[in-house]
Amino acid sequence: MPTTRRYLMCPPRYFEVAYSINPWMDPAKPVDHDLVMRQWQTLHDTYVDLGHKVETIEPQPGLPDMVFAANSATVIDGRVLGARFRAEQRAAEADHYRRWFNENGYHNIVMPTCINEAEGDFAWTGRYLLAGTGFRTDPGAHAEAQEVLGVPVVSLHLTDPRYYHLDTALFVLNEDEPNVAYYPGAFSEGSQRVLRRLFPDAVIATAEDAETFGLNAVSDGRNVILPTESTALAAQIEDRGYEPIFVDISELKKSGGGPKCCTMEIRG
Ligand code: ARG
Repeated sequence: MPTTRRYLMCPPRYFEVAYSINPWMDPAKPVDHDLVMRQWQTLHDTYVDLGHKVETIEPQPGLPDMVFAANSATVIDGRVLGARFRAEQRAAEADHYRRWFNENGYHNIVMPTCINEAEGDFAWTGRYLLAGTGFRTDPGAHAEAQEVLGVPVVSLHLTDPRYYHLDTALFVLNEDEPNVAYYPGAFSEGSQRVLRRLFPDAVIATAEDAETFGLNAVSDGRNVILPTESTALAAQIEDRGYEPIFVDISELKKSGGGPKCCTMEIRG
């Protein structure tokens, strides 16, 4: 069953691909600015139409990746753990989001000491927090998240640079009976075994699903927002009783982002 969610998003007003910090980013490739604004707005309106509450934060000039709200905090039960970016170019985003939380009634925000790209690498399953490492978030941030958020953390190792954040390789379908969809090829052998143990009934995505950013999806327990091209994955989740909803993310993908990257969930 779907549950009503609260999301934080940032309009891509200053979005561009000005530097390259993941294999999808090529500053030589032009970005269509009007199109990215429309794509983001459609994603925003899709959540609103589904009955979710969407908050927005003011974008800042000079921070072209600030649209990727998922990277800027992890919020569980009203506890906010901020972010610390690996790339210098994104470092200043963390404080803008910290201030947003502070101005919106959250007064005990903890800022991490280890590199921590928040929901880019953390996925809440309803019972424990799956935590990616290998490219961005430091393993020390996993222990820090467990202590600050008070939730059990399961570390997973990412091994393919194209899937540099956990949310490019896995998403949580549903939190009642925790289940996920993931692309095994993005994980180390040991982490694949962990995932098989935890989620024997998981949806297993193909290399093509992953390449189209299908795992960068957002589920409310029934509706699953995913990129237009991820048709095979959509068919699989539809067979399981979920409702796929397609969005076009062509411009965001030029920065290595998709629907989930643009969406931070505020839980409590
Ligand atoms: N260009 C951004 C970066 O490389 C994309 C971030 C995508 N966000 C995510 N949650 N995967 O940092």
